[in-house]
Amino acid sequence: MGHGIAQVFAMAGFEVWMRDIDENILKNAMEKIKWSLEKLHSKGRLSETPREIISRIHATLDMNEACRNADFIIEAVPEILDLKKKIFSEADSIAPSHAILASNTSSLPIQELANVTKRPDKVIGMHFFNPPVILKLVEVIKSSYTSDETVQIVIDLAKRLGKEPVLVKKDSPGFIVNRILGAIIHEALWMLEDKKFGVKEIDAACRFKLEMPMGIFELIDYIGIDVVYHMMKAMIDRGAPFTLTKSFEELFKSNNLGVKTGKGYYSYPAPGKYVKPSLSSLMGQNVNSLQIIAPAINEAVHLVEEDIADLVDIDKAIRLGLNFPHGIFEIADNFGLDNVLNMLNELYNKRKMDIYKPRKYLASLVENNNLGRKTGKGFYEYDVDVRKLDTLKIIREKPLAWIILNRPQKLNALSIEMLDEIKRTFAELDKDKDIRVIIITGAGKSFCAGADVKSFENFSGVDAFKYSLKIQDAFGEIERVGKPVIAAINGYALGGGLELAMACDLIIASSSAIIGQPEINLGIIPGAGATQKLARIIGSNKAKELIYTGDMISAEEGARYGLINQIALAEELEYIARKIGLKIAEKPPLSLMIAKYVINYGKDVAEKVGKIIEALGFGLVRSTRDAEEGIKAFLEKKKPKFKGE
Ligand code: COA
Repeated sequence: MGHGIAQVFAMAGFEVWMRDIDENILKNAMEKIKWSLEKLHSKGRLSETPREIISRIHATLDMNEACRNADFIIEAVPEILDLKKKIFSEADSIAPSHAILASNTSSLPIQELANVTKRPDKVIGMHFFNPPVILKLVEVIKSSYTSDETVQIVIDLAKRLGKEPVLVKKDSPGFIVNRILGAIIHEALWMLEDKKFGVKEIDAACRFKLEMPMGIFELIDYIGIDVVYHMMKAMIDRGAPFTLTKSFEELFKSNNLGVKTGKGYYSYPAPGKYVKPSLSSLMGQNVNSLQIIAPAINEAVHLVEEDIADLVDIDKAIRLGLNFPHGIFEIADNFGLDNVLNMLNELYNKRKMDIYKPRKYLASLVENNNLGRKTGKGFYEYDVDVRKLDTLKIIREKPLAWIILNRPQKLNALSIEMLDEIKRTFAELDKDKDIRVIIITGAGKSFCAGADVKSFENFSGVDAFKYSLKIQDAFGEIERVGKPVIAAINGYALGGGLELAMACDLIIASSSAIIGQPEINLGIIPGAGATQKLARIIGSNKAKELIYTGDMISAEEGARYGLINQIALAEELEYIARKIGLKIAEKPPLSLMIAKYVINYGKDVAEKVGKIIEALGFGLVRSTRDAEEGIKAFLEKKKPKFKGE
């Protein structure tokens, strides 16, 4: 990494002496710097020419020449403590007394390096991420000797380099990023040991459920199994609560070290030739993504409790260092801290390892009903408004709104009152500009067990006809509302319950959900649209089978028929629904509305007419400000910000 760090400093205007023990290494380093600068220059990312920047980098084999006039020295030799100590002691004896000595170590104790110098207050960790020219994160690590002044200088320096520093307030194994990554690796290794899921399944859950840029085994292969092995060992030696599995030890000894040898957890076409493993979201469907991440959340809490790093810095480090779209505490809040705690308890009971013992701060948040986004407070605070109607609970969690069917003792059966409240609530949420996506789910073990059978006990035929129109009208409001609506089926979705879900735009279901149209068992037929809707979605034969037999089927079967978009495990349902909701909420609201209408109303007319409706919708949407923004942002390679205008 040394040449990358030298380049970063030179690009920021500093004179750099780059020292190594081998002429060829220095030559090579200069070549790489030149190549990188030229690439940046061709993309218009430099304010100077590569030649001007390179003229500030002086390669040398002479430690004396490199250090004698230095204000700041950064060491990037292999992670061998004795070697680093030797370099620090040498640099200390040469450098001016005001010079700061920094180490780019990712795992070794800064204190021990400070001990070999006569300026322990000026010794600090400055851990860059590879490649330093591209990645913004820098962990600044303070030892117990490091002075506040040194810390401030290095933080300011990192900012001058255009980096985003995070402060590690105490030496600790793996600092922030490797410690959290270590916890994820630990869990993935142990999940593999359980033999319930394989490498691809776990990696698919990492990529598609947790939105990690790479699956965890893919990442281990990429970094190198030997490098990961030594990194984990170094952290374990320094007290991190990880335990390596036998199969990982064996793989390390087998010399199949990942991409570099052409084989590790995956096989590659040739040594050193990386090809991204092909995975699909379906592969990870049954893997509990909360299990993968919960121990890492616990470790992150550990770092806060021990005052090693602040919560906000930890999240920043995870986003920038691991390229996760969200920080670890944001992920925890999205899952629900009660779910995280339950998962840790379950894992602790199973494996009895310290890493799973829920940290006090996490437990106390749950005890005080601070469960994350859904309650308005978890690790972070959220602008959440909860309102209770007689049969519904409405949570406005901008930009999402959750409608929770709330008659759990009656399995959320649709009473007349509930139908009225559903219609009214959708109409209200349609007008609320802050709400971009609506999610509907059920309290307790059921999503909705259908129409309230009690309410049509004494119905005449005409009453039943009118009731059918009423329920169709209420569900029609869901189709009319100009915002995407997601059904999160948490349990039974039967009769009117399934028809309610089918009125929504997307259906996410818990793997334990049970769906069906059992009206036939009551001597009636569906009355809220199933004979039409279900038949269109799954075909009339299959719809007839379900309606004639009244059979209840699993979510998995429903997904196979194309009735359900995505399946999640029960503990993940809220997280996955929220994740998809938040993703859609970033899209241009007017385009979403027009797309919804074109699809919903276009499908009832001849294809030719539907296509004209589509073309008109296309024209209408193109005239919005958001379309201007989207097209402009694309051309300027920026992320668009849609306002719904
Ligand atoms: N209408 C009115 N009440 C309903 C209901 C419905 N559609 N579905 C469930 N309930 C009530 C039950 O009567 C029971 O009330 P109680 O405690 O006062 O007796 C309560 O909800 C719990 O249901 P229960 O049947 O005890 O739960 P379970 O787990 O044993 O069975 C079901 C669950 C879903 C299989 C079963 O409740 C059922 O078959 N419900 C009817 C589904 C249906 O036919 N829907 C279409 C209606 S048109």
